[in-house]
Amino acid sequence: MRLESPQINLITRACMKASRSLIRDFGEIENLQVLEKGPGDFVSSADKRTEKILIDELQKAHPDYGIISEEAGIINKSNINNRWIIDPIDGTMNFLNGVPQFAISIGYEEDGEIKCGAIFNPIMNEMFCAEKGNGAYLNNSRIRVSNKKKIKDSLLVTGGPKGVSKIKDKIYSEYINISNNVSNVRKFGSAALDIAYVACGRFDGYWQRELNYWDIAAGIIILKEAGGFVDFFEEDTNLPLKKNILATNSNIHEELRGLLNKKNIE
Ligand code: IPD
Ligand code: CA
Ligand code: CA
Repeated sequence: MRLESPQINLITRACMKASRSLIRDFGEIENLQVLEKGPGDFVSSADKRTEKILIDELQKAHPDYGIISEEAGIINKSNINNRWIIDPIDGTMNFLNGVPQFAISIGYEEDGEIKCGAIFNPIMNEMFCAEKGNGAYLNNSRIRVSNKKKIKDSLLVTGGPKGVSKIKDKIYSEYINISNNVSNVRKFGSAALDIAYVACGRFDGYWQRELNYWDIAAGIIILKEAGGFVDFFEEDTNLPLKKNILATNSNIHEELRGLLNKKNIE
């Protein structure tokens, strides 16, 4: 891997360390204590254990950096110039059901811009990572988005709606419209891996409403460095951590944008 910043080294090391207990927990899924956080949203003791290892590792190196992490919330709120954005397990529902499609996702943001990030699926042993200006990698190999030119030939991925969503009908009608105009659509249950899969050409594009920033922070830089294009629609300035994303191989971006309900897109 040719990524050199101290931050990406720290992130990948933290992922490797946390993944050891995560792999053990995955093997003992039935023994895990599962708490209900809200409809359709579970948090397991594995989430918390993984998050603690990640935060301890990152804080050892930079006790002053800000952190936004799914379970722990915001730490060192006043430092908005250097922030780790963490999702300890993205794809918790898969994890809890013994489906090996989940990942640790960590992005590093400097002065409001994501500079590097990693998404690690410990079961598949796939580490996607990137750093601004230095490309994106899957383990030791450089990755690039697909070369698909036409939306009608494209394989897309999406997620949602969440059980608690108030806009399920809108999400379903967008899904119908898009799936009628593409080769096929998949739903794999981990936003972080969905974007990583676009970055390495497995999928040609990804869209989803009602995400949180930690679901996709690392994915943003990985996809951009792999030659893809990411943008957001219907942003709510009062809720900066909520995101509606459109992420593609670049070629099909405008066509996919056109398929989403035009009046809903900025
Ligand atoms: C979820 C996953 C899922 C997406 C949900 C997210 P979690 O994250 O990324 O693919 O559809 O919107 O909340 O809860 O597993 O960390
Ligand atoms: Ca998530
Ligand atoms: Ca999570």
